[in-house]
Amino acid sequence: MSIKTTTKKMVFSGMRPTGAIHLGNYLGALKGYLQLQNKKELDCLYAIVDLHGITSPYHQETYYQNVWEIALDYLACGLDPKKSHLIIQSHIPQHIELSYLLGTLYPVSRLEQLPTYKDKKKEQPRYVNMGLLYYPVLMTADILLYKAHLVPVGKDQLPHLEVAREIARNFNRRFGYTFPEPQPYLTSAPFVPSLTGQGKMSKSQKNSYISIIDTPEVIQTKIAKIPTDSGKGSSVPKKGGVAALFQLLGIIEGEDKKKAYEQMYLKQGVSYQLLKRELANSIIKFLQPIQNKRKFYQDHPQMVKDILQEGEQYAQTLAQKTIQEVKEKMGLQYKF
Ligand code: TYM
Repeated sequence: MSIKTTTKKMVFSGMRPTGAIHLGNYLGALKGYLQLQNKKELDCLYAIVDLHGITSPYHQETYYQNVWEIALDYLACGLDPKKSHLIIQSHIPQHIELSYLLGTLYPVSRLEQLPTYKDKKKEQPRYVNMGLLYYPVLMTADILLYKAHLVPVGKDQLPHLEVAREIARNFNRRFGYTFPEPQPYLTSAPFVPSLTGQGKMSKSQKNSYISIIDTPEVIQTKIAKIPTDSGKGSSVPKKGGVAALFQLLGIIEGEDKKKAYEQMYLKQGVSYQLLKRELANSIIKFLQPIQNKRKFYQDHPQMVKDILQEGEQYAQTLAQKTIQEVKEKMGLQYKF
């Protein structure tokens, strides 16, 4: 079967299958995926980056379920198979091939200095594997394999994107122009705070996130647990639970609502019970159509399989072309 590729500018991004998508993933990155898929001049390819997922501890018996769940999550959140292509990273082996080739262009010492690598070393000190160090190079290969111009991601991924831009520049300088320097695309909430009030919302931090499949009761309980204070003070907290609560309110209900509550904090005082109820209800309402759509795809697995198959065929064609070009340019295309 011949696959029709386009001359449109490419968009690429991905998520690890390390558990259900949470509000941080959605508001910080996926919302960007959805905005870009609606632009006719762009061609969007979104991945379940299972090879990145295995750099952290995981269960090989049930990993395929995680991969499947993310496919459902993506579609439930609005990834439209008529506008975007959906792939599983490991099904396109050229990601690995290109990552090795590009890895020869980048110093190990720079990878060791990346904040995400340092954080992971602290988070999983007994699991500091080569894949973890190599993580940004594989991510670079994901992006450059499709010559992507735009990469919708959250703020935490910006250092990785800088590596991708640097490797693209290095390659172009040494072997001739091949790759565009990929640009990040940020949503209006590139950093969604953790419910603990410490750092970003993250799957690896307990009690830190609301997943898109959480029930109303779970959402209410999680929001109720956000640490707060007396509700009144001479300045609005800049960090901790209260700051996270206000920030979430701003992201979900808009800046005006956030400002109104901040004013209340400075004047008559805030009732956190009311605020938390309001926020929880907004999140529940926001997630309801997503959960309904997810149920639809769950009940129609063949549709999901077909979408993945289409994506894979499309990606294969592009990937093969890039690998051939890269090997030729790097002097690796010999026949004796
Ligand atoms: P991952 O799986 O950790 O997260 C997926 C996306 O969600 C964003 N994100 C957030 N944004 C705002 N606030 C938060 N609290 C928050 N938590 C997560 C992340 O920034 C990310 O965009 N390395 C990537 C996956 C990847 C990738 C790629 C991305 C692999 N190859 C190529 C883009 C292009 C990662 O671990 O994302």
